[in-house]
Parts: sequence; C-alpha cells; structure tokens
Amino acid sequence: MGALGRLRRSAEWQLLFGAIVRAGRALALTWWALVVLRALLPAAFAVAMGILVGAVQRAHPLAGPLVLVGGVFVALQTLSPLHGEVATNLGARTAAWLQDRLMRATVAPPGMAHLERPELMDDFTLARDFDLGITGPPLSVSMPFIGNGFVEIGGGLASALVLARYRWWAPIVLGGAWLSTHVLLREGTVWRDWRSTEVMEHQRHADYAYRMAVDAPAAKELRLFGLADWAVDRFASRRRRLLDLSLEAMRLRQRPVLWTLALIGAANGLVFWSLAHDASGAHLSLGALVVFAGTAVGTSSLAFGEFDWWLRTAAQPVPVVMSLEERMGAVGALAPGTRPAAGMPAREIRFRGVRFSYDASVEPVLDGLDLTIPAGTSMAIVGQNGAGKTTLAKLLCRLYDPQTGAIEVDGVDVRTLELAAWRSRLAAVFQDFVRYELPLRDNVAPMGAPEDVVARSLEQAGAAGLAGLGTILSRAYDGGTDLSGGQWQRIALARALCAVHVGAGVVILDEPTAQLDVRGEAEVFDRILAATRACTTILISHRFSTVRHADRICVLEGGRVVELGSHNELMALGGRYRTMFDLQAGRFTEETDELLA
Ligand SMILES: Nc1ncnc2c1ncn2[C@@H]1O[C@H](COP(=O)(O)OP(=O)(O)O)[C@@H](O)[C@H]1O
Ligand SMILES: [Mg+2]
Repeated sequence: MGALGRLRRSAEWQLLFGAIVRAGRALALTWWALVVLRALLPAAFAVAMGILVGAVQRAHPLAGPLVLVGGVFVALQTLSPLHGEVATNLGARTAAWLQDRLMRATVAPPGMAHLERPELMDDFTLARDFDLGITGPPLSVSMPFIGNGFVEIGGGLASALVLARYRWWAPIVLGGAWLSTHVLLREGTVWRDWRSTEVMEHQRHADYAYRMAVDAPAAKELRLFGLADWAVDRFASRRRRLLDLSLEAMRLRQRPVLWTLALIGAANGLVFWSLAHDASGAHLSLGALVVFAGTAVGTSSLAFGEFDWWLRTAAQPVPVVMSLEERMGAVGALAPGTRPAAGMPAREIRFRGVRFSYDASVEPVLDGLDLTIPAGTSMAIVGQNGAGKTTLAKLLCRLYDPQTGAIEVDGVDVRTLELAAWRSRLAAVFQDFVRYELPLRDNVAPMGAPEDVVARSLEQAGAAGLAGLGTILSRAYDGGTDLSGGQWQRIALARALCAVHVGAGVVILDEPTAQLDVRGEAEVFDRILAATRACTTILISHRFSTVRHADRICVLEGGRVVELGSHNELMALGGRYRTMFDLQAGRFTEETDELLA
C-alpha cells in the first residue's frame, strides 16, 4: 500500500471516529474507556494469578489474592458483553447521524441537478445504502468487532509490557512474531479493488435484478414476460462473480502462511524455553513464572486484533457521505435571488433565448427557445416524447437554471427573484407526481390549508368522495386505502388547485390527465380551467382534446418553438400541429371524435 493509500485510510479512520464522537459523546467516551479497561484485564489476571500462587507457595493469607483474582475474573466476564452493547448502540447512532447528514445534503440544494448527475450516482448509491448491509455490515455490527479488535491489540501490548519485566527482549521477540502476521498475511485480508468499475458494475446489476424480483411494481411485467428466471439468474451470476472477486482478492497465500507459522513457532519456543530454563534453575519464583507465562500467552492477542477489516469497511463510506454534502451542494446550487415575487407575473412570462442541456457533451435539450406567455392566459405545449416539455417546466420552477438566455417574469430575470417566493407563486402537477403515503387532506395540502379549501379543490378535480379527508392513501397503514392511477391523478390535480386557492398564480400541468379516460379528462379539464381562469396556465399534453382548450398552443421541436397560435390558427396553418392532430384524431374511436367536435 502506497503512502497515499495509507493517508487516505487514516483520514477515513479519523472521519469515522470523529463521526462517532459527534453522534454520541458520552457513549463514545464510555466505549473508549471500556476498550482501555478491557485491554488491561488479561495482564492483570496473569499478575493476580501470580500473586495468588506466590501466596500459596509462601503460605501467606489467601483472602486478599483470592478477592483480587475473583474481581479481575468477574470484570473479564462482564465487561465484554457490556462493551458489546455500548458498541452496538454507538454504531446505530453513528449510522443515524451519517444518514441524517446525507438527508440534509440531499434536500439542501435548491436545484436538483445533484440527483440526476451520473458522476454522483455511484457515490450517492453507496452513501444511501451504506448501512443497509448491502455493501458491508451495518455500523451497529462493525462497532463491537472494532472494539474487540482494539481490546485484543491493547491486551497484547499490556501483556508485552509486563513480560518486559522478565527479559527486555522477550516481548520484542514474541510481540514481533505475532505482529508480523498483520504484515505477512495482509494480502490475504485486503480487498483493494472493492470499488473498481468491475465490482461496481456487478453490484449495480445484482442490485437491479434483486429489486426487480422483490419490488411489487415490477411484479406484473415480471410474470407477464416470464422474466422471473432471468432476474434470479442475473442476480445469482452477478453475486457469484462478486464473491469470486472478493475471494480471489483475499485468498490466503500459502507461502506467507508457512513463514508466519515458522516465525511464531521459533519466537514462542525461545521465550518459553527461557522461562522453563530459569524456573528449573530457580532463578524464577513460581509466582513470577505464572505471571510471565500468562503474559507470554497474552502477547499472542497482538495477532488477533482483527479490527482492520471491520474498521476499513465501516470507515469507507464515511468520507463518501461527508464529501457528498459539499459536492451535491455545489452541483445543486442555485443563486438564491432577493427580489420579491408577490403578484408575479402581472404581465408575462418570457423565455428568452433559453439554452439548456443536462449534460454538456450531448445536444442541448432547449436550444435558443423563445416563448412569451401573457399573464392570465393559458399556453399549451405540445411536442414529441423527449422534445423538452418537462424540462421547460423544470426550468420555470427553477429546479435548474438555463446555461444561456433567461426566463423573465414581467421583465425580471427569474434568477433574481427570491427562490422560495417565486416557487410559492407556482402550482404544478408533474408527470411523476408524488403519491404521499399520508392522509388525503395532506395529499391535497401538504403544507396545510383550511378544510373547506381542501374539499373545494377535491371537488374541482373530480375527486370528491374518493376517501375521507383523514384516510391515509396507502394500504400499508391501518385503515388506509389505495387508489387507481386515474384517481391519484385527480388528487394531484386537487393539490395544484389547492395551491392556487392559497395564492399561486402560475399553474403548470405536465400531462395532467394522462391516466384519466377520455370522458373523465374532458370533465375534469373544464372544471380545472374554470378554477384557474385568473392564473397563467402552462399545459403540457399530447392529448389534443385537452390542448385545444388552451388560449394558445406552441409546438416544441428541436429545442425551439416551431409553431405558435390558437387551435384554429394552427389547424389553418396546416403544419406540424395539423399533422399531429390529424394523426391522433384518426386513431380515436367515434366516441372520441364526438368529444373533439
Ligand atoms: N435528468 C436528465 N438527465 C439527462 N437527460 C435528461 C434528463 N431528463 C431528461 N433528459 C433528456 O432531455 C430530453 C428532454 O426530456 P423531457 O423534457 O423529459 O422531454 P418531454 O417531457 O418533452 O418528453 C430527453 O432527451 C431526455 O432524455
Ligand atoms: Mg415529459
């Protein structure tokens, strides 16, 4: 291992122990105190036994020595489980503390680029899963092992120190031999490439196959397409590869093992021969022999302090978690803005030469987009899959900022508006809206709203009577209920309407009725338009029956607006819009045509 690797590792250790102290100061102190105390006990026991034997030999009173031996023995027996409990608790607390840090790091950035950047994904996955037992044992399991490892090493040192009272060279010879195992057998216990691309790749595939098999949402397709065996085989083969890789990396090599055995045999032979020699030559009392033989045996625990692997595994994710805070903060950062946004937009929202790409190495999604949406009107946006419609909505919500150009609200760059104030002007239903496992009331008004407003919003979204306001919308909870896709969509619409009722002035609807049937859609949509008449509405939809209700429609293609006008104007134009409209109208049944007419 190079100096750099060692440095990095020591930094990992420091970070781990720093985290432990910050997670629970008193508990961490107790844990360390127990490490020291337990480390002293084996040597203390040897000394106590020596005193007892000496007393027996000299026919001295035995009560004192017996109490001493008994006391040390009881401590040996009881402190170990106590230490284990403390360690388990400390590990759990530290994991919770780290998870807390990660959660903050994830939600703190005002933007969301940090959650969609491939280069952060691997570390984010590692950090997110670090205590789930996937990449290694959870901290509550590692900490007792780490503690025991320290106790072993410390115990070995304490014994060696006592042994030095016999002959200065004895602990050096013995300790050196036992310690050499850490160097000679190191290759067999280190998995250096645990984060290599190959390993990560296998891990990702194994994880994915596992989730496919055990997550309910995939159950339908898994069965329908007969993918069960595929998922199981894939998981098994990737996991086997991972195991092979780790075994290969950590396999004990034969030659070092032989060397180690020879060294340890020679060192012990020398020290114990010397002890026997001195005892038989009467240079050593029986009591002293007991003490030194005991500590010579105790020195062996220098070899068995196996905290190394546990400490490394436990410490590895710590720098990742700690560094994500800064890296995610940088990637997800947005200028906060200071201007008030109350009452905006009063005049218009304007996209001016907006250019945006998620990834600088590919074609921009929006490329010089110009679009003006007068305040208080509705604008529908149509375009093929991947045209950038959702991206446009994300930019308007300032989840991202454009690379060039600007979004202006009443002539003011949206980046200069106070972020929270601007977002409070917005109500949105996203394609992948959230299904909160919360009571219906909180699904409609996550931040709270008067009961009558909640009820009115549900009514306007055609979701009245779906469930009681207090009913949790998930079967996983007592008395909870589940909804169909269309019903959920109505709830999401109610949420946006509720936001409008409590003050939002811009409504963004991204495929808001995709999961409703055509009749339900027409009905819901009329009501929503009525409820948001005073708002500036941006409606993204590929259903022309919905789109045609908007005041104006723009067609997005190649990152720009290629057509703009009312339904009638665009139909008369006979361009892109007309083509798409005819294509869709032709596909619908008579019933649909009736509705479109
Ligand atoms: N988080 C992301 N990272 C990288 N590319 C993305 C991301 N989200 C969307 N894209 C890409 O940007 C383009 C526009 O996506 P999107 O705005 O969702 O399209 P639409 O809503 O019109 O279907 C697509 O090519 C899509 O693959
Ligand atoms: Mg979309």
